[in-house]
Amino acid sequence: MKYAVMADIHSNYEALSAALKKLRELNVDAYIFCGDLVGYGPDPELCARALGKLKNLIAVMGNHDKSLFEHSFFYWFSDFAIDSIKFANKNLSDKSLKFIKSFAEQYHGKDFALVHGSFLNPFRDYLLSSEQFLLNLDKWSGQVCFVGHSHIPFIMSRKDNLSPRINVFTGSDVTIKMTTGTRYIINPGSIGQPRDANNMASFGVFDERQRTFRLLRVPYDMETTQRKMAKKGLSDVLLNRLKAGS
Ligand SMILES: [Fe+2]
Repeated sequence: MKYAVMADIHSNYEALSAALKKLRELNVDAYIFCGDLVGYGPDPELCARALGKLKNLIAVMGNHDKSLFEHSFFYWFSDFAIDSIKFANKNLSDKSLKFIKSFAEQYHGKDFALVHGSFLNPFRDYLLSSEQFLLNLDKWSGQVCFVGHSHIPFIMSRKDNLSPRINVFTGSDVTIKMTTGTRYIINPGSIGQPRDANNMASFGVFDERQRTFRLLRVPYDMETTQRKMAKKGLSDVLLNRLKAGS
């Protein structure tokens, strides 16, 4: 099976469309989504419908998705994030809300696991350090775990009992080969709001049989997304952040 690996779409339909176009060209068999379909962007409903149409989708919920249903999450959100969740709540159909509510908090499959933040706290903690890698290591089985949340495309790996290594993906098309005896935590980066100073949509392809992960970046029609954000009254801060990729 060849899996598309996606995270942090954040209601950016133009970025999602560009990523899906590339993934269709690559003939993926199934889709993995590591959470945060909504928040920040102008098109929650269009993004929910597009995700809902994908074949063999395995999705987990992100903190922004969760906050659609539990406003207690707002206490650590910025005002911009809160406004964009309220905007999403108003603009999502009942069908799409039900679809997002159906996402699991974490997923444990035969060959890979998924969680948005970390297994210790799926909706708050970030998985970014060697220490966090080790604290999560016994929380999933199998060779690879895919995460989202930080919007940074990276790979953490640990061979046998050695210290974990962390590498941020740079470049727009990078393939790594997974080796026996090594376990991995991989973040495919963010489709709709990258934060690694690269404003192109970020996602990946996991080839289960070849044991490879390919990280891809594609440009998208950002001006249209920004125009929609301005028209729908979303903050300039969020709009400018797309351009900066930060
Ligand atoms: Fe996010």
